[in-house]
Amino acid sequence: MSEVRQTRARFLPAHAKINLTLDVLGKRPDGYHELASVMQTISLADTLLVGSTADYRISCDTDVPGLRSEHNLALRAARLLADCLGERARGARIELRKIVPAQGGLGGGSGDAAAVLVALNAVWNAGLDEAALEALAAELGSDIPFFIRGGTCLIEGRGERVTPLPDVEPLWLLIAKPPVNIPTPTVFRILSADEWSTGEETAAVVAAIRESQPLPFERLFNALEGTVLRTYGAVAATREALLAAGAPTVRLSGSGPTLYAPFRTLLEASAVYHRARTRGVLVWLCHTVTRAELAHARLG
Ligand code: C5P
Repeated sequence: MSEVRQTRARFLPAHAKINLTLDVLGKRPDGYHELASVMQTISLADTLLVGSTADYRISCDTDVPGLRSEHNLALRAARLLADCLGERARGARIELRKIVPAQGGLGGGSGDAAAVLVALNAVWNAGLDEAALEALAAELGSDIPFFIRGGTCLIEGRGERVTPLPDVEPLWLLIAKPPVNIPTPTVFRILSADEWSTGEETAAVVAAIRESQPLPFERLFNALEGTVLRTYGAVAATREALLAAGAPTVRLSGSGPTLYAPFRTLLEASAVYHRARTRGVLVWLCHTVTRAELAHARLG
């Protein structure tokens, strides 16, 4: 009985992200692309139940059958932390309720992995600081370090260099998922060097955020967007539907296929939300989440 006794299990959210900008600066010798991006956590979130067990077994159950595998990033994150801690690690029981679309460009799996690292660090009393957790996160995937702190951040390098920024103004967001899955490696493989960018849009958005100016919607940018829209008709069709529903600005998040539209008022956002649903778009109405709100939610 004591073998499986579970201690201090807690629920915590694993928020998704959008890319307010995504500049691809070029290709690196290691095969990855050099990025400059402003990332933002959003209220669309998975829910995790994370508990420490008295044995050394690590398990992860999820309500999505396709994610019950050894490749699940939440499970891999728990194993990586356990390997790093050695004797100091305990067992872990994880349950994952999936809401964020997988392979969507919203960092769904990445957010789960980061939340598991943060939660197990706490319930195992491991005492790793954020820099140590970010280093572990980088071993699992390029956009996972961002999710350790979240909020509004500048991301550079392959994704592993994370600079926290002041919070962006509160924004309502429509998140629209076109009916297609796009693997990230495919998008980077078909991206031509003509689509590389200078980093100017990210620099402009970072400057506006640092000066507490309104977010310049006209500078929101994604260097992968042109390639994805040309290659995947379903993404272009969803974008057209959002524009026709009245969204003034529509951008791709990450490598897609998910699109987002930002709004300053709920009335504007909800009007477009209802029109987009009528047009058959799979759409969520959510909002930005700050780093402080995220930390509070994680403490429970
Ligand atoms: O690091 P991660 O496994 O999440 O990256 C998935 C794929 O996305 C990589 O294998 C690579 O093809 C591409 N990628 C890239 N440059 C980055 C991040 C990802 O080319 N900075």
